[in-house]
Amino acid sequence: QKNFKVVVAGASGGIGQPLALLLKQNPLVTKLALYDIAPVTPGVAVDLSHMDTPAKVTGHKGPEELSAAIKDADVVVIPAGVPRKPGMTRDDLFNTNASIVRDLAASIAQNSPKAIVAIITNPVNSMVPIASEVLKKAGVYDPARVLGVTTLDVVRAAAFIGEINGVDPRTVTIPVIGGHSGVTIIPVLSQSQPAVKLTDQAKIKALTERIQEAGTEVVKAKAGGGSATLSMAYAGARLTGSVLRGLKGESNVVECAYVKSDLTEAGYFANPVMLGKNGVEKNLGFGKLNEFEQQLLKAAIPELLKNIKTGEEFAKK
Ligand code: APR
Repeated sequence: QKNFKVVVAGASGGIGQPLALLLKQNPLVTKLALYDIAPVTPGVAVDLSHMDTPAKVTGHKGPEELSAAIKDADVVVIPAGVPRKPGMTRDDLFNTNASIVRDLAASIAQNSPKAIVAIITNPVNSMVPIASEVLKKAGVYDPARVLGVTTLDVVRAAAFIGEINGVDPRTVTIPVIGGHSGVTIIPVLSQSQPAVKLTDQAKIKALTERIQEAGTEVVKAKAGGGSATLSMAYAGARLTGSVLRGLKGESNVVECAYVKSDLTEAGYFANPVMLGKNGVEKNLGFGKLNEFEQQLLKAAIPELLKNIKTGEEFAKK
């Protein structure tokens, strides 16, 4: 198969629009369905449809048009959600985004149960278990087909290492494992190729922390104007492109992603996976960690366990 339908759920947002723009340029995408509750959504689709690339773009607005958007999808990418507004607690944000992901997963179970689901909505550590539980209840769950998008952590690590080493960041390979927030983000700098040109352990620690807190770096720089959107869209488009190459039958397509995993006691864990005709074909694990990285892993596990439990408990309600 070489023709794929990709759905962006949350297509009119800060991440969704540039993500759709990038996917419209992917030759493997023949159908691009944009779904969002925002009234502008059909217009975003018309706008993109004027680009001279083959993907046929359709716009779908509001819950009554959700089924049509999702129907027969090969991949559904989900950046739908709400950003944190003044007066909103983390729990408020969690409950809203969790409900959005739950409802989208229910529609996927009904309208395209074989689709690969790539989740961008935060907190990713909890949203992947929620979608998984919903699909499980519907009897269509396959852990190979549900991924949390952690590609931005990899992209950031490569960008920063490229800067330090004075090389094109695209030539840097660096696994970032664990989860997708704060201390759960574990850049495995000891496995960077080429090696990171830092000898001082304090500098390694500082680079690790910069990667873990890179989201906050963007929030601060945008001074109240939002969080990472453009780099996130780039990362989401890259992961989606890799998923499609795997579906097409290309071999050796490897990306880091947050997936169901028994490699740690957490139950879900991000590390390099091989993508194939059914999504995650093989979990490649995370190899040898040095002492510092083992400490990071130790700090990440309880936080991951907590995030996953929160997600699973929400899904059971
Ligand atoms: N179904 C579909 N789309 C929805 C829904 C829903 N139930 N609820 C909200 N949306 C849409 C909004 O209409 C908006 O167009 O999701 C989009 C979110 O866009 P922004 O508010 O601009 O947020 P963005 O910066 O894109 O972040 C989205 O990704 O990184 C995460 O933490 C971030 O969870 C947040 C999400």
